[in-house]
Amino acid sequence: MIPGRWHQIAAASNLLGPDGDLAPTIFAEMSALAVRTGAINLGQGFPDSDGPEAVLAGAVSAIRGGGNQYPPGRGMPELRAAVAAHQKRFYGLEVDPETEVLVTAGATEAIAATVMALCEPGDEVVTFEPYYDAYAAVIEMAGARRRTVPLRFPDFTPDPAALAAAFGPRTRLVLVNSPHNPTGRVLGSAELEAVARLAMDHDAIVVTDEVYEHLTFDGRAHIPLATLPGMAERTVTISSGGKTFSVTGWKVGWLHARRDLVDAITTVQQFLTYVNAGPFQPAVAAGLDLPGEFFLGVAGTLQAGRDLLVEGLQAAGFGVRVPEGTYFIVADAAPLGYHDGLALCRDLPRLAGVVAVPMRVFYDDQDAGRSLVRFACCKRPEVLREAADRLGALRR
Ligand SMILES: Cc1ncc(COP(=O)(O)O)c(C=O)c1O
Repeated sequence: MIPGRWHQIAAASNLLGPDGDLAPTIFAEMSALAVRTGAINLGQGFPDSDGPEAVLAGAVSAIRGGGNQYPPGRGMPELRAAVAAHQKRFYGLEVDPETEVLVTAGATEAIAATVMALCEPGDEVVTFEPYYDAYAAVIEMAGARRRTVPLRFPDFTPDPAALAAAFGPRTRLVLVNSPHNPTGRVLGSAELEAVARLAMDHDAIVVTDEVYEHLTFDGRAHIPLATLPGMAERTVTISSGGKTFSVTGWKVGWLHARRDLVDAITTVQQFLTYVNAGPFQPAVAAGLDLPGEFFLGVAGTLQAGRDLLVEGLQAAGFGVRVPEGTYFIVADAAPLGYHDGLALCRDLPRLAGVVAVPMRVFYDDQDAGRSLVRFACCKRPEVLREAADRLGALRR
């Protein structure tokens, strides 16, 4: 039995087992199922091929060159400079690498430290649901409350009235993830402007999780909220190298914001990890400096993977929302006669030799995502082709 307050935190993140013990995450459960059955694991979102040679070589040479001790608390100067240069090059944002950037243990630590630093107990955090599972847990850990705005299949577009209704006198933060895991939505300018207007009206800080910033499809541009008029001052922009450079195990993340916000967040972050990933920081800096073709290439490769898997899912009889970005495709199992995505995910290795994750774990309103399933398309083409082929068994 998990004691006291942690019980609540585990419950908020769907980690409470039937006896009140800590249950494995759905990703752990589904990955174990994939190992046990030999199924293709399209559950957890990690790529199955390595990132660019310049990035990998950068880490090897940093390790061989003695870069193995604690880096500076705010991150290595070359990575902070590379983050600032990247924000200028891609988005025209002016960021001071000395005072406005903090390197973190992945985007996850950046989000946790930000929420803990900027929320008082009882404050409210507005976010969309479904959401990345860490959000509910860190909001709970900070003693804050989440107010969610549903994104519903198939268009996953927020209802403006529901968005406005989520704001109130206790709203402190708005936590926005675009490109969005798990829906694959890339929010457009009108949607972002609506968030910005409400944040200004309620004097809230916007925290943006942009880890999929380079993974957008069909020429769709990612728009950082900090680029909207008046928003640089009230936005904490978070990203990481994991997805862009296919190094999810390195956990090199960062954030940038107004100096006083970065100072407040650093106060928390330095007692969470203080620093991490010393030799990987210059390697990620080298990645951020890569030419534009590299970034287009990553998105193009992923888009081809998306197309392969979308086609396979449609042919198998799923209802599919074609994602605009990210590693993920959401499919509706209802047309196949499955109204419970969790039941389908538990059966899928036996039925088709593939593993996916049920969407309802990402929702507070479990009914909203009941028949939906998330598949990862960040795998090699031969793996996705084989998965698409196997999924055809559902129709046969
Ligand atoms: C939306 C979102 N934010 C953050 C993360 C975690 O990023 P990192 O590995 O850099 O902590 C993920 C990883 O899956 C994610 O999907």
